[in-house]
Amino acid sequence: MDTMLQSMRRSLYSFLKMNIKETKLNYSVVYPGRVSPQIHYKSIPEHVKCPPYYMTGKPSQQYSIDIKSEEEIARLRRTCKLAKSILNQCQELIKPGVTTDEIDKLVTQLSFDAGAYPSPLNYRKFPKSVCTSVNNCICHGIPDDRPLENGDIVNVDVTVYRENVHGDCSFTYMVGDVDASGKRLIEVSQQSLQVGLDHCGPGKPFSGIGKAIEEFLMTTEFSGVPAFTGHGIGSYFHGPPDIYHCRNDYPGMMSPGMVFTVEPAVSEGTSSLQILRDGWTAVTKDNSRSAQFEHTILITDDGYEALTV
Ligand code: MF3
Ligand code: CO
Ligand code: CO
Repeated sequence: MDTMLQSMRRSLYSFLKMNIKETKLNYSVVYPGRVSPQIHYKSIPEHVKCPPYYMTGKPSQQYSIDIKSEEEIARLRRTCKLAKSILNQCQELIKPGVTTDEIDKLVTQLSFDAGAYPSPLNYRKFPKSVCTSVNNCICHGIPDDRPLENGDIVNVDVTVYRENVHGDCSFTYMVGDVDASGKRLIEVSQQSLQVGLDHCGPGKPFSGIGKAIEEFLMTTEFSGVPAFTGHGIGSYFHGPPDIYHCRNDYPGMMSPGMVFTVEPAVSEGTSSLQILRDGWTAVTKDNSRSAQFEHTILITDDGYEALTV
């Protein structure tokens, strides 16, 4: 529950922002553009080992939280490291004029070159290899022909599959000069991931992550987006546990050998969202910007290890 002071501060912030928005936005509201044709599974290079859903789009269900063996952890370390390396290489493309489709082509090429499958491709029929979410898009943005503009913020979410396991990470980049509130949004969203990670370790409750993130965001001018959760990951892309980024009573404790993601999305305005007709693109209802950072982590005997480094 907000204290009186916190709620007064929040309404003052939103009042001030409302008035700023009425005068002039410092960024573009983004709408989906043209999506280039999906890669056909028959044109995936033969040396790439594909996940079970690559043809049908239907992943197999994972019902329980699995404890990874040392051997699987070694594979996860390598795959997660590759995901982060591809994500880092995307940074070089982040400049005005570059389309998100070009980012997608780079992720596809780097994945194939490394003998990996870009996990989003045809996952539940997602049409591209990476999610690119610009400004008011919260997550699951589909790469298209829109060129990045000076002042944009763009989340690039890279997941790859190699050695029979997935590694998942994302980062929000600035395109050219971003206004002060956009910079602050990115900073707070990165901090909220760290706050979540600070509550990860053996014997700690899963629910502690969201509680800490919510309490942290309460002290800022921004709000969390509760609709999207982190997830267990391994031989499957998404499975239990669900990692809430808000107050919750999800049961259970973390144990050594568990691997999951933490990926809080933070909005400059409302936390309510709309999924566009493409079935994927999640945008804020008030067109405010959203930022997100994600790591895949392993619970160890004495804390956690970020694998996407
Ligand atoms: N990488 C996203 C996550 O963090 C999931 C994307 S699902 C996709 O969980 F199909 F859109 F790729
Ligand atoms: Co991701
Ligand atoms: Co994820």
